[in-house]
Amino acid sequence: MAHSASSRSDAPTLGASRYGEQVFRPQDQGEADRIDLGALAYDATTMARLRELGAGPGWRCLDVGAGTGTVARALLEVGADEVVAADRDVRFLAADPPPGLTVLEADITTDGFAPGTFDLVHARFVLMHLPDPGRMVARLARMLAPQGVLVVSDAVDLTTADAPDSSFTSAMRAMWQGLHDTIGTDVTWVPGCPRLLEAASLESVTAEIHVPPLQPDSAISRFWAETWDRARASMIATGLVDDSTIDDAVRCLDAPGFCGHSPGMLTAWGHRPEARP
Ligand SMILES: C[S@@+](CC[C@H](N)C(=O)[O-])C[C@H]1O[C@@H](n2cnc3c(N)ncnc32)[C@H](O)[C@@H]1O
Repeated sequence: MAHSASSRSDAPTLGASRYGEQVFRPQDQGEADRIDLGALAYDATTMARLRELGAGPGWRCLDVGAGTGTVARALLEVGADEVVAADRDVRFLAADPPPGLTVLEADITTDGFAPGTFDLVHARFVLMHLPDPGRMVARLARMLAPQGVLVVSDAVDLTTADAPDSSFTSAMRAMWQGLHDTIGTDVTWVPGCPRLLEAASLESVTAEIHVPPLQPDSAISRFWAETWDRARASMIATGLVDDSTIDDAVRCLDAPGFCGHSPGMLTAWGHRPEARP
C-alpha cells in the first residue's frame, strides 16, 4: 500500500509524550508502511477470528486506533454494513474511503469519545500504548449493542527472564523499556486482558495467542526492523543496548535459521449480555 509522508528529518527527543508525538509519528516517512507490515503479519489471524465471531452482513463495526484501515476495509469486504474507523490521526484513513467506511478523528482516551453502539468493537495494538487499559476496556464495552462483541488484541512479550541471551533479546527488551519511558507503552497487563473484559461485565470471555514465525524478509521481521529504527533513540537511552547491538539484532532477523521469537498477539473477546447487568 503506498502512502505519502513528509521526510523523517528530526530525531525524537526523549521525555513523556503520547503515541505518535515523538515516536511513531504519522508524518514520518514510511510510518504507514510500517503499520502495514504489522497488518500483513496479523490481519489474517484477526479476520479469521472476527469472521468466526460472526462479522459480516448486518453488522455495524467500530475499529479503534484503526491505523491504515486494513481491518476496517477487510470488514467491509466480508459484508459488514458499516465500519467506523477511529484514530487520533486519520491521514492514512481519509483518502478515498470506500462506501460504508466512516472515518472519525478522535482521541479514544477522552470522555467525549462515544461514537454509538456497535455489533463489534475492535482495538488492535492500541490499548498497550494508552494509560489505564481497564478503564479503556470498560469504555469500549459500553459501546456495544446487546450481544455485541468486544475484541482486543495486544502484544505479548516472549523475551521473559529465561529467553536466550542474544542481541535480539536485548533489542526487544530495550524496545519495551524505551517505549515505556517515552510514550508509556506497557504490555505487562496483556496476559490479564481476559480479566479486564470480565470486569467490564462481558460474557463468554475467551482468548487466543498468535506468534508469527520470524523468517528472513517476512512482514513481521521487517516490521520489527522498522520499529527499532523508529524507536532507536529511546532504546539506546535505556542503557540496555547500543547502536551495534541493535544493528546486530536487525541482522539476526534476516539470518536463515534464526530462532528468536516475535512478540505474540493475544486476542481476547467477550460479549455484552442481552440486558445490562
Ligand atoms: C500500532 S498502531 C495500530 C494500528 C492498527 N490498529 C493495526 O493493528 O494495524 C496504533 C494506532 O492507534 C492510534 N492511537 C494511539 N493513541 C490513540 C488515541 N488516544 N486515540 C485514538 N487512536 C490512537 C495511532 O494513531 C495508531 O494509528
